[in-house]
Amino acid sequence: MTKRTIERREFLKRAAAGAAVGLVYPHARVLGASDRVRLGIIGPGARGQELMHEFLKVPNVEFVAVADVYTRRHDEAKQIAPGVKAFDDHRRLLDLKDLDAVIVATPLHCHARHFLDTLAAGKDLYCEKTMTWSIAEADECLQAAKRSNRVVGIGLQHQSSGQLVDAKQWIKDGLVGKITSVESWMSRNTPRGKGQWVRPIPADCTAANVRWEAFLNGRPRRPFDAYQFINWRLFWDYSGGNVTENMVHQIAWIMRALDLPLPTAAYMSGGVFSEKDGREVPDTIAVTLDFPNDLVVTWQSTFSNKRFGIGDRILGSHGTIERLMGATDMVTGKSESGLRYYPEKDNRPEGAALAGETKDQHHMTNFIDCVRTRKEPNAHVEIGYRSAVAGHMANMAYRQKQRVTLEATHATARR
Ligand SMILES: NC(=O)c1ccc[n+]([C@@H]2O[C@H](COP(=O)([O-])OP(=O)(O)OC[C@H]3O[C@@H](n4cnc5c(N)ncnc54)[C@H](O)[C@@H]3O)[C@@H](O)[C@H]2O)c1
Repeated sequence: MTKRTIERREFLKRAAAGAAVGLVYPHARVLGASDRVRLGIIGPGARGQELMHEFLKVPNVEFVAVADVYTRRHDEAKQIAPGVKAFDDHRRLLDLKDLDAVIVATPLHCHARHFLDTLAAGKDLYCEKTMTWSIAEADECLQAAKRSNRVVGIGLQHQSSGQLVDAKQWIKDGLVGKITSVESWMSRNTPRGKGQWVRPIPADCTAANVRWEAFLNGRPRRPFDAYQFINWRLFWDYSGGNVTENMVHQIAWIMRALDLPLPTAAYMSGGVFSEKDGREVPDTIAVTLDFPNDLVVTWQSTFSNKRFGIGDRILGSHGTIERLMGATDMVTGKSESGLRYYPEKDNRPEGAALAGETKDQHHMTNFIDCVRTRKEPNAHVEIGYRSAVAGHMANMAYRQKQRVTLEATHATARR
């Protein structure tokens, strides 16, 4: 049996135990419109602290507790929310009776454990993207969420964008026609010699201040490594690289705009080309995803040129939808952002260009509203699942150096 198969079996066994506990969901309080929503957060690191600030902008919300394996984060979180209880073990946070919802902002390889444990403790959940580190975990988390009566939201904030509303409407109104191709890209740059994502190691990041075993979360034992702990994004054991860091936002947006099921196949090429700094995950990436009904979606990313920023183009027989975020216009040289529609003169000769007008919703306010109303958040667990599986299929194709089909992934919760 391979190491991966053993890990998968171990995970499924553990997840099944967690899910079984979760079948008897502990009583959760019913919130009135004016009741204060009490939050806890697991992993108040860089993103977690941003999320604390964002959630505190929502009226009538407070943080009650934080859990982090690194003592420094307790102090930082207390600067944002004085008076919070701080734990080094997430299970102590989940034991608290006075919590309504839990935010999970830990590294990717810990998401599934924190996702399942939070639901088993009967709390509502906001889990950062990507929903899970693997397809087996994504299957397990989706099933657990479906079995629960908990509100589950994912940190895919583009799902709350007005651009999604406008793009869906244009497609529904027939302005785009037959869509056979979507192209998307994401690009960044850094000064030469300084790799994207590499963070400095704080002096207090020592074995004494970090619960290293808890961070490893079932990964093979190894001595404390502050570089890996802080720069977990660079290593496959903890991360899915830029596919799970950034493609996930764009593919989830495209999947929702076009109402796409899981891809039927994935291809991915690329490598560690920009900075050979010991990282394992590629910085230069070209992904191709095949979808049923004659559609190909491509996503391309680089870390050594950012001229064209981030963008998506939905290419249809009757028109094009273009979504740009900080792309340099080829002709004017100006930075362009926003959603635009351009008619194809071949099939809509009288069509006019349009600009997106719908305002964004505040993603965290939408989640808190759902905690109160029990509605489904904009970034629901289904889109968390579908975007996670698409990303994992791409990474599998890269690592296996071959086309990966949906059948071969054994994803159980197909749509
Ligand atoms: N939605 C977005 O736009 C967005 C942006 C950035 C990051 N993220 C996501 O947020 C997550 C965190 O990213 P980050 O950059 O904040 O990482 P980070 O390393 O800065 O923070 C992670 C925190 O989790 C803690 N931690 C690690 N293992 C733990 C465990 N087992 N139990 C409790 N705490 C643990 C770490 O000590 C750290 O404080 C990632 O999944 C990332 O993809 C989302």
